[in-house]
Amino acid sequence: MSTNTPIRVSVTGAAGNIGYALLWRIASGDCFGSNQPVILQLLEIPPGMERLQGVIMELRDSAFPLVHDIVGTDNPEIAFNDADAIFLVGSRPRTKDMDRSDLVAANGPIFVGQGKAIDTVASRDVKVITVGNPCNTNALIASANAPSIPPRQFTAMTRLDQNRAVGQMAERAGVPASKVKNVFIWGNHANTMYPDPRCGTVDGQSATDLFESDWLQGDFLDIVSTRGKAIIMARGASSAASAAAAAVDHMRDWWQGSNGHIVSVAIPSEGWYGVPEGIVFSFPCRCENGEIIVVDDLPIDTFTQSKIDENVAALLEEREAVSELLGN
Ligand code: NAD
Ligand code: LMR
Repeated sequence: MSTNTPIRVSVTGAAGNIGYALLWRIASGDCFGSNQPVILQLLEIPPGMERLQGVIMELRDSAFPLVHDIVGTDNPEIAFNDADAIFLVGSRPRTKDMDRSDLVAANGPIFVGQGKAIDTVASRDVKVITVGNPCNTNALIASANAPSIPPRQFTAMTRLDQNRAVGQMAERAGVPASKVKNVFIWGNHANTMYPDPRCGTVDGQSATDLFESDWLQGDFLDIVSTRGKAIIMARGASSAASAAAAAVDHMRDWWQGSNGHIVSVAIPSEGWYGVPEGIVFSFPCRCENGEIIVVDDLPIDTFTQSKIDENVAALLEEREAVSELLGN
């Protein structure tokens, strides 16, 4: 696609907290490139429409040169019409007393109707990122309800978890985050996730040489995997700006390439590393030419295998809990 032809980018929950941070990053060219015009197609539910009108007013007032048009609607078939990229954000966040998986009853059904609408009206090449929690299983629900779109085009976001892992390593080593490469997440965006340090480098040095294994398998793992709750406790609301930044990183790398680096993408398993087919699982990936390529030949030690197994069990349980939403 020529970079001067506008692409259609849909964002659901566009009047919410993540939407408010995400839209400005997309509009400024941070995600799809500084020469790529966009048409923003924003979805809300009826009670959010007035707030959405205010967001659209502010977007227009920002006079972004790359924004060619803005559509605000409560109809998914208008929001996803011919969409080239879709950010599925709209859904309820958890509160202090909940796990993310507790949201599936409230949020899961949203992704049935939205999956069907994507199937009907989106571009056949659409790239979908699911942010709304529990994001792995919501991506599965959306994909299952969009049978004419290949499952690989439906992903879920574990990039925030990767960025948290990078942030922790950078802080401990006293270097900028840009010096930390190739740390990635296995599994579910849940407390079972595993931030794998074994390919990681910090300023060119192996992360497993630099940091003690007690820290990597102890505080580092605990901080990264429970960071979402810690933010909710501290802020009184779930992460928003960092979530938007991670969604931009995820989609930017998918769209423009990850420059050979390993990044975390949750995608429907095709059996990689023995993970059962179909469940949306975060793997080490590289992005090239608009494709996500799972790095499928990393050695797996006993600890990593036990974490993979734990995540598989949790995701199979979530899949069972939503079986009636999967359309088969
Ligand atoms: P928010 O409550 O501020 O905003 C959500 C917005 O979605 C609201 O404006 C609401 O009206 C809208 N909405 C609800 N149902 C909708 C539907 N069916 N269609 C379209 N819009 C709908 O919440 P937020 O802070 O923006 O978080 C959104 C979701 O993202 C939550 O589920 C949260 O848990 C999740 N999240 C995921 C990650 C991640 O790393 N995967 C990180 C942070 C937040
Ligand atoms: C996060 O990781 O910050 C989000 O998934 C929000 C949450 O509920 O933890």
